[in-house]
Amino acid sequence: MSRILNCIVAVCPDMGIGKNGNLPWHPIRLSNELKHFQKMTMTPSDEGKKNVVIMGRKTWFSIPAAHRPLKNRINIVLSRELKTAPEGAHYLASDFSSALHLLDSGELEKLVDQVWIIGGSSLYKEVMERSGHRRLFVTRILKQFDCDTFIPNFDMDKYKLLPEFPGVPVGLQEDNGVQYLFEVYESIKH
Ligand SMILES: NC(=O)c1ccc[n+]([C@@H]2O[C@H](COP(=O)([O-])OP(=O)(O)OC[C@H]3O[C@@H](n4cnc5c(N)ncnc54)[C@H](OP(=O)(O)O)[C@@H]3O)[C@@H](O)[C@H]2O)c1
Repeated sequence: MSRILNCIVAVCPDMGIGKNGNLPWHPIRLSNELKHFQKMTMTPSDEGKKNVVIMGRKTWFSIPAAHRPLKNRINIVLSRELKTAPEGAHYLASDFSSALHLLDSGELEKLVDQVWIIGGSSLYKEVMERSGHRRLFVTRILKQFDCDTFIPNFDMDKYKLLPEFPGVPVGLQEDNGVQYLFEVYESIKH
């Protein structure tokens, strides 16, 4: 089944997304940005179903243990090395295609609604370069923090910036003195 792949990411101006296994702005909390992430990834279009979040191993372990798995979502962790899913994760997959395959087989087939890719960098890159219908939910953090993990810039031959999207606030946002904008990009050729 071909599904829309939704990536969600918060990026610094230099396209940095992480530092020392954490978010670049840590320990500053961007509470409303986090609420936006929760709302977007948690809310299914069909109330009887659940959304799935797919993430790399390091992103899984970057989530505080008390918040794993991300609640009300099916959590899939990708790893080439792990043999069993880390404690609390619902599923383990050895590559992205296997993760998608899981969604179309067995118990998940009827349960899964939206698919959200929540990092890290190689996974975003892989999804951004795939064919098919993709959306990128991007928080543009307008302040530069020191980063050691980056994503590529969006290829505007492949994506267009949408003027608005249901549920995504428009205009300048601010948390704890850090300003940011929400953007949504959609793949042009599905
Ligand atoms: N700003 C944001 O929105 C955001 C979002 C997510 C994460 N982050 C930050 O980014 C950093 C973590 O991201 P990262 O890029 O370093 O690591 P990551 O992608 O989360 O994890 C990398 C690991 O995941 C597994 N993996 C990734 N892609 C895979 C694939 N296609 N198939 C199989 N396994 C795969 C591999 O695990 P094995 O080594 O076990 O094989 C790989 O070593 C942290 O600093 C985190 O806070 C930021």
